[in-house]
Amino acid sequence: MSRLFQNILVTGGAGFIGSNFIRYIFRQESFKGRIINLDKLTYAGFAGSLDDIVSSEISDRYVLEIGDICDSENVSRILKQYNVDCIVHFAAESHVDRSIEGPSVFIQTNILGTFNLLEEARQYWGNRQDVLFHHVSTDEVYGSLGEDGYFMETTAYDPRSPYSASKASSDHLVRSYHHTYGLPYTLSNCSNNYGPYQFPEKLIPLMIENMLEGKPLPVYGDGSNIRDWLYVEDHNAAVWAVITRGGIGSSYNIGGENEWKNIRLVKEICRIMGKLTQKDEEYYLGLITLVKDRPGHDRRYAIDCSVIKKELGWFQSLDFEQGLLETVKWYLENRDWVNIIKSGEYRTWMEKNYQKRSVT
Ligand code: NAD
Ligand code: DAU
Repeated sequence: MSRLFQNILVTGGAGFIGSNFIRYIFRQESFKGRIINLDKLTYAGFAGSLDDIVSSEISDRYVLEIGDICDSENVSRILKQYNVDCIVHFAAESHVDRSIEGPSVFIQTNILGTFNLLEEARQYWGNRQDVLFHHVSTDEVYGSLGEDGYFMETTAYDPRSPYSASKASSDHLVRSYHHTYGLPYTLSNCSNNYGPYQFPEKLIPLMIENMLEGKPLPVYGDGSNIRDWLYVEDHNAAVWAVITRGGIGSSYNIGGENEWKNIRLVKEICRIMGKLTQKDEEYYLGLITLVKDRPGHDRRYAIDCSVIKKELGWFQSLDFEQGLLETVKWYLENRDWVNIIKSGEYRTWMEKNYQKRSVT
């Protein structure tokens, strides 16, 4: 049996995963309702990432509400005004390096913002069981793996950065609202996403952009830290499967089963860029620079996603080589989007961050 919702409040829908999610659910035939996108439009949020929806024939089913998830009055108004029956909570401060530089906003948005949404949802929904709060979380709550092993849904939480600690805290709050007040929720913990519309502070788009500008490609430490990469569309398909068919009060791990050492991944992007641009692979490889490591840098992430595969029939649809090629092409073909993003606060932050790390 599949749950159907009419008025879905997506928080953080102007960010990387959220904007792809909104596009994804509008493509689902079973979804006939409306989406309300509540986004503060921080440095990482860009309303223009959904211009295609705004100028399409379904634009009357999409509403952008610019606002902060920490503003309880505004959240309360939105829940009532749009008769919201499902909240899909993406909004967060999402970048680990920024959480090391300035953790305060992470505590504010990720913990207090989530608390505020939960509290307003509880007030508005009361004891209703035909509603859902879906919380989008990360595999980073589990900490760091050694050479072996995988994160399972039952792995104990062991967050190690202000970002992951704030996400872990928000996960606990969501579960507590279910156990204490009966709020229906689902939760997902996903590995590293990549794909179109990702803010170019994250590893893959940052490397593409630096290659285009002929800048050094900063690889932290010795480059042997490992991440498990998943195409954003596959993450969103999993989130949709959980929302519509997942067990209430359940958490699902989502991952790519696709582990890459950072240095190997950067070299792979050099290879692709060598094929798609005027400069050759050797030129790009020559830009690779080992820099000072991220403090507390988690060694390895790897997700066991057998539960969602078995229970909900979800699987990764795109192989990594294809997905990475598509992503590099997207960044090469969408220079207007990239240039707008890079014209803001982006450059100052990236330069400051690079200077801090430039000595190995
Ligand atoms: P992002 O940084 O690209 O986007 C975050 C969005 O949230 C932006 O549009 C921003 O404007 C908005 N926002 C921030 N603070 C807000 C506030 N106080 N009120 C309203 N809106 C606010 O992030 P992303 O990479 O798309 O990640 C989305 C979610 O997925 C996050 O919760 C993150 O923890 C989780 N996640 C991300 C990844 C990944 O690889 N990027 C993997 C697993 C989980
Ligand atoms: O695992 C899921 C998480 O993935 C999400 O919860 C986070 O929101 C998301 O930002 C991402 O976190 P990471 O820290 O893994 O992503 P990032 O792209 O910042 O870094 C990926 C790896 O690359 C990490 O090992 C650090 C390294 N790195 C990153 C940057 C930006 C570099 O070597 N050089 C860089 O310049």
